[in-house]
Amino acid sequence: MKIFLDTADVVEIRKWHDMGVIDGVTTNPSIMLKDHVLDMEAGAKEITTLLAPLPMSVEVTTNDPDEMLVQARAFASWAPNVVVKIPHITANGTPCYGVIKTLEHEEIRVNATAAMSMGQVILAAKAGATYISIFYGRVADEGGDAAAVIRDSVSWLERWGFKSEIIVGSIRSVGDILSAAKAGAHVVTIPPQFLGKMADHKYTRETVRQFVADAEESLKLIENLRSSARSE
Ligand code: E4P
Repeated sequence: MKIFLDTADVVEIRKWHDMGVIDGVTTNPSIMLKDHVLDMEAGAKEITTLLAPLPMSVEVTTNDPDEMLVQARAFASWAPNVVVKIPHITANGTPCYGVIKTLEHEEIRVNATAAMSMGQVILAAKAGATYISIFYGRVADEGGDAAAVIRDSVSWLERWGFKSEIIVGSIRSVGDILSAAKAGAHVVTIPPQFLGKMADHKYTRETVRQFVADAEESLKLIENLRSSARSE
């Protein structure tokens, strides 16, 4: 399973990338705003350079499918590791699968974003999307069983030999990450604070503290034994 970082915060991206635990980055316009990346092109170029050749998803900012194509081509020209996020439908419900198909035919990789159902996953896979993002937290907010949507989607893709990879986003807890992992997600995209929580455990801290204290105690004992041997 791959781990992507769901952020535009360069400090966090560099930190986790240097530790070797991330395989890419995803953003959206809300994340860019929250992380104060107002110039999308400059921000995306900085992140793609830092990450290369790992992928970074950048989302179109329009509701118009024709304009999506124009934006997607511009984003893709910024760096070879840009993946363009296209929503499954517009805010008015117009399907965007034609946009996905056209871009993939032009060898621009697409992340079909904001999926809430297996039906949407099937259509995006048929259109040729490289990645399909299921929004765990938002599915659960509506009372949906996000783990079941992931499990059923992954097994359908495998059964019919589709290459699209399921990214699980909209993570609200470490429990969501583990549940997406157990459901077979190909990728989980994680906000940095939850990666920190995933690494931490109070009993691991206590265990390490004990081992370090005992190692120091052993060194003291060796020192004492050596000084007594010298004085004999
Ligand atoms: C992932 O690709 C999405 O951009 C993100 O995880 C959405 O999360 P949210 O539901 O917290 O906005």
